[in-house]
Amino acid sequence: LHAAVVLPAGGSGERLGGSTPKQFCTVLGRPLISHTLQAFERAGWIKDIVVVVAPENIDLMKTIVNKYGHKRVTLVEGGVTRHRSILNGLKAFLEDRSADSAIDKPEVVIIHDAVRPFVEEDILLQVALSAREYGAAGAVRPLVSTVIASSSDGCLDYSLERAKHRASEMPQAFLFDIIYQAYLKCTDYDLEFGTECLHLALEYSNTKAKLLEGPPDLWKVTYKRDLYAAESIIKERLS
Ligand code: C5P
Repeated sequence: LHAAVVLPAGGSGERLGGSTPKQFCTVLGRPLISHTLQAFERAGWIKDIVVVVAPENIDLMKTIVNKYGHKRVTLVEGGVTRHRSILNGLKAFLEDRSADSAIDKPEVVIIHDAVRPFVEEDILLQVALSAREYGAAGAVRPLVSTVIASSSDGCLDYSLERAKHRASEMPQAFLFDIIYQAYLKCTDYDLEFGTECLHLALEYSNTKAKLLEGPPDLWKVTYKRDLYAAESIIKERLS
């Protein structure tokens, strides 16, 4: 299995507040993104890790990679939306690079968020193998809240049956050509407003997207209080 990772880390972390994007906040002595990179380093079968960061954070990310000794990492500049950042990350596998930073186009590409540091090898392997079988695969979790939609007057329009729906989490994995072609074919509207890579793959290619029930700790560090929860999970794992 030739697998590689695109790790979008190009966001500004507006919901967390403060000036430091959440992926660079320190949790137990190292930036959050460094914990996520450690999770991938434990999965030795993953060949390359493309980290996508906003242009103004490239130097900071270089310092983190050197300071914490991360290996197999290639840095790429992000775009204005998550989709554009992922597309930049995918393109990196097709660029001619100097011999010392050569990365090859993988058979399967795993997409994961920098701000989900608790991902474990088991679910990474499950999504990668399912992507090889189905074309695309992603981790899901049962919904905690019921999802409802409001109409233009701000009143309830409809609600979804909670037991039938799932929260789409990360990691997701794709045959490289499927997700790359989907990104090339999709519209600017998709690139600006979409948040679901599996959906793009389904819409713009002839693939299935296998859903895999993931473990509870795939959640995304989003708000400031999540940093405290992240710290206690990491402590618990180290003890
Ligand atoms: O904003 P959201 O929480 O959905 O971001 C998920 C991931 O996508 C984060 O790791 C964030 O850094 C990344 N992202 C990105 N480029 C953007 C926006 C978000 O790489 N323009």
